[in-house]
Amino acid sequence: MNKADFVVVANRLSVDSDGEGGWKRSPGGLVTALEPVMRKAEGAWVGWPGKPDLELEPFEFEGTDLIPVTLSAEDVELYYEGFSNDTIWPLYHDVIAAPRYRRPWWEAYVRVNQRFADAAAEAAATDGTVWVQDYQLQLVPAMLREARPDLTIGYFHHIPFPAYGLYSQLPWRRQVLEGLLGADVIGFQRVADAGNFARAVRRLFKYDTKASGITVPLPDGGSRKALAKAFPISIDAESYIELAQRDDIKARAREIREGLGNPATVLLGVDRLDYTKGIQHRLKAFGELLQEDRLANADATLVQVASPSRERVETYAQLRDDIELTVGRINGDFDTVGHTAIRYLHQSFPKEEMVALYLAADVMLVTALRDGMNLVAKEYVAARTDNRGVLVLSEFAGAHDELRAAVHVNPHDIEGLKDAVMQAVEMPPAEQRRRMRSLRKRVIEHDVEAWSKDFLDALSKVRGKDVTE
Ligand code: G6P
Repeated sequence: MNKADFVVVANRLSVDSDGEGGWKRSPGGLVTALEPVMRKAEGAWVGWPGKPDLELEPFEFEGTDLIPVTLSAEDVELYYEGFSNDTIWPLYHDVIAAPRYRRPWWEAYVRVNQRFADAAAEAAATDGTVWVQDYQLQLVPAMLREARPDLTIGYFHHIPFPAYGLYSQLPWRRQVLEGLLGADVIGFQRVADAGNFARAVRRLFKYDTKASGITVPLPDGGSRKALAKAFPISIDAESYIELAQRDDIKARAREIREGLGNPATVLLGVDRLDYTKGIQHRLKAFGELLQEDRLANADATLVQVASPSRERVETYAQLRDDIELTVGRINGDFDTVGHTAIRYLHQSFPKEEMVALYLAADVMLVTALRDGMNLVAKEYVAARTDNRGVLVLSEFAGAHDELRAAVHVNPHDIEGLKDAVMQAVEMPPAEQRRRMRSLRKRVIEHDVEAWSKDFLDALSKVRGKDVTE
């Protein structure tokens, strides 16, 4: 395989198995966003194919070189389920669940990060650019710089970066910062995340930080500049607009409402089944509104899509039990033979079906307790080409900083959440239109292509070269 001028390194490869021995492009926004950049630059993508012990040779897919990194069953348990998703994930999401600090998990994280860094160092051409993605690979930037000082290195952090008071719990807090500081540009979702990172760097290393710049001393006595800044990620808005305008998808949206018995109000929640998403808070608020008869039972249905996620991590398995108990109780109390209070779907759906659900929903509930961005909020807005529907959005989601015209909630405040749901249910069409127009403007103008362009432009400036040429 030729060396690539542009390399993306992510925990997951940009393709999924198609179930028939072949591959299909992953539906995620990141893959869609980078597709044009990858094609133009004849790029390479380093990542894990998603199953343990899968040993694959590099292969080409739609113009991109895919470089699979093998993870053994033990790597998956210690690096992915353990350190990534049972240490870093809960710690960085404000300790909503208790992080577990296990030394063998850390050792596996170092080992596996080194393997990703080696694969990227091998794939990248001289003076090339490598863009590292997300919290599973925080050590890769410094490992890469060590092996390949010629490279321009970017890192984007898709999840929150916590305040120092929490971050400082991490027994390996210095090593993780050193890893990240190997990058020329360290991108975050929110200004607050970049601020938390810069504060941690000041507290632990006493490095100079001014505006977004961090002065990182070099062993020879000199220094280099790293940039730590917010680049809020977005979606491929145009593709949602196209789907939302398709007649078959509009017909499917009507069919969904009919299938629910045509209730006056359809509320919708769409989340990975994760404790950061505030699904229980949402269910509690909805159940109480029915109980108190503020929402007439026959008039409202909540559709909750909770897609399966990280099911072997105990906190996730426990959460699933809790949610399913709550849904069962609420439905047991309020369902009639012909009507359901909550239609709960522990499944993933293709993008077409998601857009049909967005079109069928009068109210979209995003009640995350902490979330890097929350792209579902942006997808709902993009899909509402009719300027109808109301987005109820948590203050603790990164999207809150941009989507100012949503109905904002603190999901911990159940009374406030109930009031916000009622405000959304009762909102006059003119106000819905006014808010939705403003939300859509933001999402359409700042789509995922603008995001990757902003980031890569910043990266070119730091090293004085155009990485997309
Ligand atoms: C979040 C993370 C991603 C991750 C995704 C799905 O959005 O920021 O890095 O890929 O969740 O989680 P999974 O563990 O299935 O990759």
